[in-house]
Amino acid sequence: MKEVVIGFLGCGNVGGGVWNLLENFSKEIAHRNHLRVRVKKVLVRDVNKARSCAVPAELLTTDVNEVVCDPEISIVVEFMGGEQPATEYMLLALRAGKTVVTANKVALALNWHRLQAAAQEKNVGLYYEASVGGAIPIINVLQNSLQANRIGHMMGIINGTTNYILSRMYENGEDYRDVLGDAQRLGLAEPNPAADVEGLDAAYKLSIMASLAFHGRVPFSKVYAEGITKLTAMDISCGKEMGYVLKLLAIAKREGNTVQVRVHPTFLPQAHPLSSVNGSFNAIYLHGHACQEMMLQGRGAGDMPTASAVVSDILRAATAHEHIHPTFANTAEADPSLVFDDNWESQYFVRLAAEDRPGVLEKIAGWLARENVSIATMLQKGKADDGRVPLIIVTHAAREQSLRKALASFDKAVCTVESVIRVEA
Ligand SMILES: NC(=O)c1ccc[n+]([C@@H]2O[C@H](COP(=O)([O-])OP(=O)(O)OC[C@H]3O[C@@H](n4cnc5c(N)ncnc54)[C@H](OP(=O)(O)O)[C@@H]3O)[C@@H](O)[C@H]2O)c1
Repeated sequence: MKEVVIGFLGCGNVGGGVWNLLENFSKEIAHRNHLRVRVKKVLVRDVNKARSCAVPAELLTTDVNEVVCDPEISIVVEFMGGEQPATEYMLLALRAGKTVVTANKVALALNWHRLQAAAQEKNVGLYYEASVGGAIPIINVLQNSLQANRIGHMMGIINGTTNYILSRMYENGEDYRDVLGDAQRLGLAEPNPAADVEGLDAAYKLSIMASLAFHGRVPFSKVYAEGITKLTAMDISCGKEMGYVLKLLAIAKREGNTVQVRVHPTFLPQAHPLSSVNGSFNAIYLHGHACQEMMLQGRGAGDMPTASAVVSDILRAATAHEHIHPTFANTAEADPSLVFDDNWESQYFVRLAAEDRPGVLEKIAGWLARENVSIATMLQKGKADDGRVPLIIVTHAAREQSLRKALASFDKAVCTVESVIRVEA
């Protein structure tokens, strides 16, 4: 039986899950893959810390060289998180001729070109299934299973923390701050939740998915990111009344060579397949010209679901005859053949606080019409405390810049714009 010797960079939630899965699945791995996977060294920050797995103390080290320079180790598995020093450590491993498996979307999204170049130079592999969607095999699907497609659009719920928060706000009418506090107590949100709630985590993942789907580098810097921090229970309940569910969506669309990549809160019709993806689940809905509509759904985080993707990558790497890399020119800059469009077309949900007197609706419709924005539906709620009434408008499809220009022209003495949320069909 072949033995593959591997080293870990990190041993926290994901690392602990990978250790446990390798241990409790070793018989199946031996039987199915004729492989014994042996972990030789584990890099951590603190060797005395209590761990969720029974890694022997003598394997732990705080010296990265003991992992990346060990000639016996052929695969280095990284789950430290963050851009640095993870990127530099992965580069050390690749340059030392080791295949790298990583769960780290930040390091990959920002330094993919450097990592891939180093891997190709040494003819070793770079595997990153766990970097997007946890257990969902979206990387493999985009890279291999959907090769015969032109992907026209992709919409993903790819951040479990925000999906948990929004699902609870939708179900129970709770406020953002209260649910965030609960999510932090339950360990579903980080003590510093900024990367999740500001949409950055989803933007890193979208940059990776869109690059694979569109066969050209879509850098993180090109992804528009807007988070969920300004959403109110009122927006969600008004949307619900109008038949919508609110999700933080990562959206990538392509028409010819024009692409749009954006992460923002989005209202979806209740009947849309993504609308019923709740709690900490992730899902990716896409359309290819041959495969047509498809949705992949599963656990987007957690030690075991993430370990499922990481261990599958380890097994694939250990048994590959040839390592496969994306075929597009993986450079730091965006693929020059792609045109990035930030003036996308969407419907918009606009909540206003408007004066309650005749003629106001006409004025608002007029300001919108000046920028070619027309109203599809309107909902007026009871009086607010300050005498203004909440007025909700859903527009027909309009251009982003036209909508912004129109809203900027509103006379504040007549109405103020309280929130703007995009609506997808
Ligand atoms: N958690 C998930 O559900 C999930 C899902 C998908 C992908 N990921 C990705 O997986 C990666 C790891 O996440 P995690 O939740 O497992 O993180 P974590 O629990 O914080 O674990 C990080 C590990 O890396 C070690 N580490 C960090 N910085 C180090 C440094 N400078 N030198 C040496 N060791 C260092 C830590 O050592 P100590 O233990 O000694 O502190 C710890 O063992 C991240 O990139 C994350 O985005 C996570």
